Amino acid sequence: MLPKIPFTLVCLLLVGQLSFAQQKAKDNVVIEKKIDALMAKMTIEEKIGQLNQYTGDRLATGPVTANSTKFQDIKMGRVGSMLNVRGAADTRMVQEIALQSRLKIPLIFGLDVIHGYRTHFPIPLAEAASWDLDAIELSAHIAATEAAASGLHWTFAPMVDISRDPRWGRVMEGAGEDPYLGSLIARARVHGFQGNGLGNTDAIMACVKHFAAYGAAIAGRDYNTVDMSEHMLWETYLPPFKAAADAGAATFMNSFNELNGIPATGSSYLQRDILKGKWGFTGFVVSDWGSVREMVAHGFARNNYEAAKYAITAGSDMDMEGHAYIDNLKKLVNDKKVDIALIDDAVRRVLRKKFELGLFDDPFRFSDAARETKVLSDPKNKIAARTVAEKSIVLLKNQNQVLPLSKTTKSIAVIGPLAKSGDDMKGGWAVPWENDHLVSLYEGLMNKVGNSVKLTYAQGCSITDSSKAGFAEAVETARNADVIVVAIGESAYMAGEAKSRANLNVPGVQEELIKALKATGKPMIVMMMAGRPLIFNYTAQNADAILYTWWLGTEAGNAMANVLFGDYNPSAKLPITFPRAEGQIPIFYNAKNTGRPVKDLNDIVYKSAYIDMPNSPAYAFGYGLSYTTFTLTDLKINQPKMTKDGKLQVTCMLKNTGNYAGAQVVQLYLHDLVASVTRPVKELKDFQKVFLQAGESKEVTFVIDKEKLSFYDSKLNWITEPGEFKLMIGDASDHIVLESSFELID
Ligand code: BGC
Repeated sequence: MLPKIPFTLVCLLLVGQLSFAQQKAKDNVVIEKKIDALMAKMTIEEKIGQLNQYTGDRLATGPVTANSTKFQDIKMGRVGSMLNVRGAADTRMVQEIALQSRLKIPLIFGLDVIHGYRTHFPIPLAEAASWDLDAIELSAHIAATEAAASGLHWTFAPMVDISRDPRWGRVMEGAGEDPYLGSLIARARVHGFQGNGLGNTDAIMACVKHFAAYGAAIAGRDYNTVDMSEHMLWETYLPPFKAAADAGAATFMNSFNELNGIPATGSSYLQRDILKGKWGFTGFVVSDWGSVREMVAHGFARNNYEAAKYAITAGSDMDMEGHAYIDNLKKLVNDKKVDIALIDDAVRRVLRKKFELGLFDDPFRFSDAARETKVLSDPKNKIAARTVAEKSIVLLKNQNQVLPLSKTTKSIAVIGPLAKSGDDMKGGWAVPWENDHLVSLYEGLMNKVGNSVKLTYAQGCSITDSSKAGFAEAVETARNADVIVVAIGESAYMAGEAKSRANLNVPGVQEELIKALKATGKPMIVMMMAGRPLIFNYTAQNADAILYTWWLGTEAGNAMANVLFGDYNPSAKLPITFPRAEGQIPIFYNAKNTGRPVKDLNDIVYKSAYIDMPNSPAYAFGYGLSYTTFTLTDLKINQPKMTKDGKLQVTCMLKNTGNYAGAQVVQLYLHDLVASVTRPVKELKDFQKVFLQAGESKEVTFVIDKEKLSFYDSKLNWITEPGEFKLMIGDASDHIVLESSFELID
């Protein structure tokens, strides 16, 4: 029961809230007035300059457009923002140049701070596996704190693209396949980055990307065309964007792909109608790298002049390293092809953020070398990175309870091409640092066991080449140990942007190494390191235990060692489906039933099935084991019927029935049995991650409201329809333990 709050306290809280809202409204009025005054002084060239973004040369993250006059352009007020310039000293130096411009408008500095800045956190897909929103928010907040101490104002994150296709290398940057989980994570990341609001020196602007539907590139090939129904767009791909906009994200980035024939960068539908119109977004939209001029290659614009016209008209406010705006917008206005009001609106949006960041009060407030040194060496950040890494590791298999390793283990053979790699633990999109040190698996084990356990090592093979020359040594090493821990997978450079793969196998001869090691008969634990779901059917069948460790960042090895020895009991769940074969892709749990569903695996004739393998995945969305066991019992729904404006309370008992303390993610799925637009057989609608001591029980409560039962009708109205709903509770999308139903009535 909720504690009773005294009426006077409620009043005080309300008054507090109101005055906060009032204060914000007042600040906004002041800012708009300042923008008016500044814009009144700006020439058209200076206005267009605010919409122009260049990359710094040291860290280019895309094809650089040759421009030797960058600094001159900044001095002339022809640049609004720089990306890929970082560090208190460098940003100060470049900001000083901007302050030599006529109106002294400060620059915004942006960078891809995707999973940590100085401290590398697990890749976003790994963090999503934690299903721990506080941990995800904390990770983003620490990244923001570090970045903001290093002169940065803006991260190009979170990437909230839903993807059902692990061939697409950028699945590593997102939160997986599910719109509900993805929306909660999008919100957590925006809150983490923007903290208590822009203007604080531990907050940076979030940039929600890539708007929209980039994750559905045909055949998983990066930058490829996207073609999808409006229903799929609204139901599956847009929700995390909406959640991020509602969470107050300062900026959005559009995307490289075309959507139903229109490049996203030139899509008024996406940027004006949906984002700035329906969702009331007041921030600004930056193009993706060169995506304005890429509309020429798409066959949408004849030249950069036309591309600039389409992009600004469609609501793309800033041109990232594309030169299309700076070269063409003035002429477009003079030629009466673009209304100056469009440019004014875009400039106003950019300036608004500069005011909110406090850059006009102090352009150097984020470029403070002393703060940078202090914050970037804060030991707390590493501890947080380790905690988040532990929470991101998914236990896929644990035959005969081979894990956790016994504290009396005498010798461990650490084998595999990734066992001693610290560098790969960074994963894609990590900020580069000189003398960067990430803890490898081997080092983490050494840190944990010191001399008390004999650790031996053999590489066995490399990640990609076909030589088996190292197998004999690896097998010999394994023979002489109590247990084998093998680290295989992808290198960090095999997932990320432009890293699509047609084969999702573990590259090279790594699975053959597993086969050779299996012959020793020693217990074998496989640490699978990757930026996407891989296909590893041999390992799945033959390893004794499998931990999917993704790429875990700075503290990777320490986190893995803690999990191997049971100092942390794995609690993660897959945020994306793992296929058995590439031919099953796209594969996702929230699919439709079809008119000919498979009910019995022995009866697939004229059914929606493959004749050569089951429809089911290797590992389902929501799946992940623990060292302990849990039961779910006593499902209760407080009433069998619910009115549209009513609420339904669902409870069940979770019990830790094993020998270790641990956390379980209790997952609630719904199925609207009959609707005017068919509904998926299962949709995640709620979950709770609950920590229990061994033997402990807890009642878990969920509340079902109208929002959870709504869907888009054939006209794309967000509605509910009366009827029966199936309710399912389980610990994975394919492991439903409790089932019931209820009816929604008018
Ligand atoms: C990527 C964006 C990234 C930008 C800047 C582009 O190639 O698609 O996600 O933010 O480069 O690095």
